[in-house]
Amino acid sequence: MDLYGALRPLIFRLDPETAHNLAFLLGEGACLLPLLPQAQPPASLRCQALGLDFPTPLGLAAGLDKGATLLPLWQSLGFGHVEIGTVTPRPQPGNPKPRLFRFPEAGLILNRMGFNSEGAEVVAARLKRRPAGLVVGGNLGKNKETPEAQALDDYRAAYRLIAPEVDYIALNVSSPNTPGLRNLQAPEALKPLLTGMLALRQELGLERQPLLLKLAPDLAPEDLDAIVEVAVASGISGLIATNTTLDRGVVPEPLRARVEARGAGGLSGVPLKKKAREVRLRILQALDGRLPLVACGGLGSPEDVLTALADGAALTQIYSALIFEGPGLVDRIHQGLA
Ligand SMILES: Cc1cc2nc3c(=O)[nH]c(=O)nc-3n(C[C@H](O)[C@H](O)[C@H](O)COP(=O)(O)O)c2cc1C
Repeated sequence: MDLYGALRPLIFRLDPETAHNLAFLLGEGACLLPLLPQAQPPASLRCQALGLDFPTPLGLAAGLDKGATLLPLWQSLGFGHVEIGTVTPRPQPGNPKPRLFRFPEAGLILNRMGFNSEGAEVVAARLKRRPAGLVVGGNLGKNKETPEAQALDDYRAAYRLIAPEVDYIALNVSSPNTPGLRNLQAPEALKPLLTGMLALRQELGLERQPLLLKLAPDLAPEDLDAIVEVAVASGISGLIATNTTLDRGVVPEPLRARVEARGAGGLSGVPLKKKAREVRLRILQALDGRLPLVACGGLGSPEDVLTALADGAALTQIYSALIFEGPGLVDRIHQGLA
């Protein structure tokens, strides 16, 4: 058993957010070590996507390292890219605690963090010291109190600060924990958002930096088709699918009442796998190769990642499986893929 396996029972007895904060504290200590052991993904996994070079198609999904505090650690585990954020333009505390719940027996996480963020200025300053050789994406969102009609101003404010420090940007319009955010996925709201962001990208001379859109798994197939057409027509660089789901139907029946009792939030991990793949397959069909897709949602094994790549995804991301399996998962997936 590895160290994480040995500590797991202890870690999982702690309140999830306390465990998260403790792990980050230890991680920050590890990042100060002069020589953090470096896992090297097998050379055969090198790939190109979005005009960027990746040592592996496996990356860390947004939401774990919201403030870009542990980049050297993710790199040492062998991740090819890390999506930091979601970062909001101004600092905000997120939702009241408790807001994070684990169900290890089902590999399921429920969260309603609600974009707890130090704000774009602080995160941008930290990114100036980011390690070389790791692809970093910046995932952006809007502040809770910003009215939907002014969302574009928030994304633009965060973009101005974060974009110059990262390799790609992901617009998060799919978190279920900021009221109204998902309405931005509607084509009539999406068009001005994407146009406004692409105009800013040009104004800042960042035309060559990929701009991606992260989507929810709770969209009807026809809505996905319409969103794909808006995305392609706008000229953005790619899509990420998916974020967490609001659909309680994915939860195994014996667990449903317990999950329900924890209240609102998005679900991720194993129970999301099937739904996220269905959504991705629909998007890939609609895209017909016109834009690259980053696969996310319920991936947790070499087979899962391989399936996503064989389906046509250019890159993959994980979050929940890393919490349940521990840091050794990255290398296990790499060995399996190789
Ligand atoms: C606790 C938690 C916080 C998250 N925060 C964010 C976030 O801030 N922004 C975002 O785009 N996605 C966020 N996500 C969603 C993940 O990036 C990912 O899309 C989702 O968890 C599905 O992948 P998984 O099944 O591998 O976890 C969060 C997920 C979890 C579990």
